[in-house]
Amino acid sequence: MADIDGVKEAKSFYTDTPQKTEGFFLKGSNSLDWGMKNRLARIFNPKSGRTVMLAVDHGYFQGPTTGLERIDINILPLVQYADTLMLTRGILRSIVPPSETKPIVLRATGGTSILKELSNEEIAVNIEDSIRLNVCAMAVQVFIGGEYEKQSIINMTQLIDMGTRYGIPTLAVTAVGTDMARDARYFRLATRICAELGAHYIKTYYVEKDFETVASCCPVPIVIAGGKKIPEMEALTMAYNAVQQGASGVDMGRNIFQAECPEAMIQAVGAVVHENEKPEKAFDMYNTIKNEQSKS
Ligand code: 5RP
Repeated sequence: MADIDGVKEAKSFYTDTPQKTEGFFLKGSNSLDWGMKNRLARIFNPKSGRTVMLAVDHGYFQGPTTGLERIDINILPLVQYADTLMLTRGILRSIVPPSETKPIVLRATGGTSILKELSNEEIAVNIEDSIRLNVCAMAVQVFIGGEYEKQSIINMTQLIDMGTRYGIPTLAVTAVGTDMARDARYFRLATRICAELGAHYIKTYYVEKDFETVASCCPVPIVIAGGKKIPEMEALTMAYNAVQQGASGVDMGRNIFQAECPEAMIQAVGAVVHENEKPEKAFDMYNTIKNEQSKS
C-alpha cells in the first residue's frame, strides 16, 4: 500500500467561484449531446461560428468531373485551407491519408447517376462504417418536390436516427430539380422541412432575393453550396452576401476546384467566411496568391 503519511493536503476547491455553464455557439444546437456538439465544433470554427467545407463528393453521381479527375493531385493540397472535407468513403479510403486530421463529412446516400432520375437515392453507407471512418457528419441529399421526395426524406430521418445513436450529426443537402424554381420561397420550405425532421445543419443554395429569410426561419445552421462555376469575383461576392445574411459558411466545390487558381480561391473564400473580408479585398487576395503561385 502506498505510504500516505506526510502527503500535503493542498486542495483548492474554489468555493467562491461558480462553475461556468456555457451555451454552445451554434444556432439551435445547444440541446445536443456532447459528442454531437464536439463533432460540430470541429466542422464549424468556434471563433467565427462558421465553416469552409470543401465539397469534392460530386463523383458519386457524375464521375470524374472537371477538377476532380485526380483528387490526389488537385485536391489534397487544398485540404490545409479548408475547415472540413466533404467526400465519399471510396475517395476517403483510397486517396486521403489517414494522418489527415481535418474533419470529414461523409456523403452517405447514392444509387443514381446523371444518366437517370437523381432523386431515386438510398442510404449508401451503414452507420458502422461511418463510425469506423471517424466521420464528423453524414450528408444526405433531400429532394423536396422531386419525384422521390418521400424516399429522400426517409433516407434523411433514418440517417438522423442512426447518427443520433452514436453522436454523429446529419447534414441535409437540399437538391433542386432542374425544372424547379430556385427562389427563397422554395428554400424556406426545403430547409425548414429538413430542420423540423431533425437535420443538424443544412446545405442550400444562395438566392439573390430574400436569402436572409431562408436563414432566419431555419432553426439550425445553414451553409451554401457554390453551384456551377462562376467568375471568382462573383463567387466571393455570393459567399460574402450569404454569410452576411445569416449563413454559417459554405460547402463549396466547383467554384473552388474549378477556379483558375484553386489554392488562392479557397484562401480568399476563407477570408470572406471567417474574417468578414469584403469581396473586393478577397479578390485582391486571390490575385496576389495566384500571381505568387505562377512565379513559383
Ligand atoms: C452534390 C453536392 C455537392 O457537394 C455540392 O453540389 C457542392 O458542390 P458545388 O459547390 O460544386 O455545388 O452536394 O450533391
